[in-house]
Amino acid sequence: MKNQLIKELLVSEPDGRSVKVCGWVRTIRDSKNLVFIQVNDGSCFAGIQLAYDRSNPNGADTASIEKELKRVSTGASVIAEGKIIPSPASGQAVEVTLMSLRVVGESPSDYPLQKKGHSVEFLREIAHLRPRTNMIGAVMRVRSQMAFAVHSFFQERGFQYFHAPLITCSDCEGAGEMFQVTTLDLNRIAEAGIKAGAKGMNPEKASELVDYSKDFFGRMSSLTVSGQLEAETYATALSRVYTFGPTFRAENSNTPRHLAEFWMIEPEMAFFELEDDMDLAEDFVKYLMNWALTKCAEDMQFFDSRVQKGLIETLTAVANSDFARISYTDAVKELEKNNDKFEFKAFWGCDLQTEHERFLTEQVFKKPVMVYDYPKEIKAFYMKLNPDGKTVRAVDVLVPGIGELIGGSEREADYDKLINRIKELGMKPEDYWWYLDLRKFGTVPHSGFGLGFERLIRYITGMGNLRDVIPFPRAPKLCDF
Ligand code: 4AD
Ligand code: MG
Repeated sequence: MKNQLIKELLVSEPDGRSVKVCGWVRTIRDSKNLVFIQVNDGSCFAGIQLAYDRSNPNGADTASIEKELKRVSTGASVIAEGKIIPSPASGQAVEVTLMSLRVVGESPSDYPLQKKGHSVEFLREIAHLRPRTNMIGAVMRVRSQMAFAVHSFFQERGFQYFHAPLITCSDCEGAGEMFQVTTLDLNRIAEAGIKAGAKGMNPEKASELVDYSKDFFGRMSSLTVSGQLEAETYATALSRVYTFGPTFRAENSNTPRHLAEFWMIEPEMAFFELEDDMDLAEDFVKYLMNWALTKCAEDMQFFDSRVQKGLIETLTAVANSDFARISYTDAVKELEKNNDKFEFKAFWGCDLQTEHERFLTEQVFKKPVMVYDYPKEIKAFYMKLNPDGKTVRAVDVLVPGIGELIGGSEREADYDKLINRIKELGMKPEDYWWYLDLRKFGTVPHSGFGLGFERLIRYITGMGNLRDVIPFPRAPKLCDF
């Protein structure tokens, strides 16, 4: 007999036919004649109940079942066969009366998920087992659904899925937060240093010990912080593209909002100006909210009742709202009126802190807000300069409870302005020769943005920390699995 997912069994007709159930035991209740085993296979939130009545075995393989029951415990894997019938118990439509049972893998008493209600911190320590909990199981199903939603949104709109390289030699955001990729033997370099006189060595010579021409790529290389620059090359050929892949940042920020490895979605569109970019970002976020509410209803019910009360209402409101739009300059005016409430006082030119972002979206507008036209000094080199010469066509999408969800901009499409900016920032134009070529040959206005996938999942699930919405989180001093 073929096994079916519990998700399928739960919505099938309880017509007494024989079915096969495969999964992991969550609970077992064995009292006198009645045995109930709750089995979950992660295909959906709910499990299915196996019921066995000793006083009425109905032709079940009783000797074998009794033998196997002695081996059943929380966490054990089982394959069971039985008849699917309407359940007399409340809260479940169907159950399976047991005809045969096989424990495939026992689960000894040191199984860490015996009881319910573990803290998220504890669960992080058993990241390999935590998907077997209700909470993390639900998060990861939503994550999977939302990945599909991302593709669906862009594919419906004629975008091509573009795979940006993960190893690169350009620092897109210019923040110097890149993880180096090297096959050089650091120990041997250190030994050479010691031989060369180590402490007594001329510090200027120290760099000579590291010869990147001998490194794998013959030059210094890193993991990418963003696929944007490469996406621009394809947008100026295929018109509309998007990336969706891992990015890496060696930011030393130990916060619930940052990961060292996170997934980012970066659409890039030729012939899009900033307003078009903002419209797309708004449509995208609303589309994702609607998808979560309709396609993940059961899991969303759990988050709404157990993780963040009112979550469904909040997301529904977002899906139906018009996002506010305000220039950075006006946003700062708004913040300055409330400077007594902030740890970091706001002023024109300051980089907005999470407290400022949250104030704007949670207190001032009470809905998502897009802040645009930031001072050029606090944004990356590639953004289009405004006629005022001071601000750039950047946009951040801020949402309640999270702060920045999306960062994007219209790109500088003018060759001379871009090369000036590169030089102004002390970067080397020759490192960006290919990027500058896009402005030399058939340049076009173009725009894009980046949405942090984990921030999205956190927003949708109401979870408190990005570390709990990615299977194996990487953060400073955290790479345990
Ligand atoms: O604002 P950021 O740095 O923008 C870029 O990387 C642009 N190249 C995007 C583009 O225009 N194509 O990052 C984009 C988003 C942020 O808004 C945030 O959601 C997320 O990426 N993000 C992080 N998420 C988790 N951990 C981190 N350390 C993150 N840093 C940024
Ligand atoms: Mg940003």
